[in-house]
Amino acid sequence: MTQTSEKKEQYLSIGAEATLEKRKILGKNIVVKTRVVKGYRNPLLDAPLRRERTSHEAKMLHAVKKWGVTTPTIYLVEPHTSTIYMEYVDAPRLKHVLLDTKIKNTEKMRLCNELGKIIAIFHKHHLIHGDLTTSNVLVRRNKNFKNKKTINELVMIDFGLSTYSHKIEDEAVDLVNLKKTFTATHSTLNEGWGEIQKGYLENGGEKKVLKQMSEVESRIRYA
Ligand SMILES: Nc1ncnc2c1ncn2[C@@H]1O[C@H](COP(=O)(O)OP(=O)(O)OP(=O)(O)O)[C@@H](O)[C@H]1O
Ligand SMILES: [Mg+2]
Repeated sequence: MTQTSEKKEQYLSIGAEATLEKRKILGKNIVVKTRVVKGYRNPLLDAPLRRERTSHEAKMLHAVKKWGVTTPTIYLVEPHTSTIYMEYVDAPRLKHVLLDTKIKNTEKMRLCNELGKIIAIFHKHHLIHGDLTTSNVLVRRNKNFKNKKTINELVMIDFGLSTYSHKIEDEAVDLVNLKKTFTATHSTLNEGWGEIQKGYLENGGEKKVLKQMSEVESRIRYA
């Protein structure tokens, strides 16, 4: 294996906003997420913006844990290099699980329901995730030590665009964004979107938010 290919394999993702690298430090797999320099932005604006987004994302990844939502544990935040060092979650994205033909439909529906429930927790606490997609959710096998059963649990990531808001409109937009990518990516998963909505309502998500979604959607259609 060449030096270059070894290096390449370490990258989990190279996006427009951030690069994510898997590294081994003191025998532990970790993820290093670094926000990239935006050449088109004035450096005087770009640096503080990246610093602020990095600190904000780390804060949110940690904050949601107290509501019972699973996220990678943060090990270190380095605002001056716009870098977060966090736990490596050895798990596929929800997107791949939902597209996997070997996985039973009932399990896929359970995961969709679970996702709806987690979004309801966010909205109950006035947190708008801002980038809800099935790529920003990981599905980890988790062994319950009491009954020895293994179940799939959802691990939420990518809180860089999250905000706090008390507006129903913002909650509706959060869900419309998910619906758009969900229905496009998982068009064959009948009932999937319905199950997300069901989980949302079962966990305290408000009907009026779902109603507001139709308004947001019609505005997008006629814009
Ligand atoms: N803690 C983690 N453990 C394992 N894999 C991760 C972890 N965090 C992110 N990933 C992987 O890296 C991908 C990109 O991560 P993330 O969504 O945080 O960045 P991004 O989409 O590039 O960020 P942004 O939307 O802020 O530009 C994820 O879809 C996931 O596959
Ligand atoms: Mg992402």
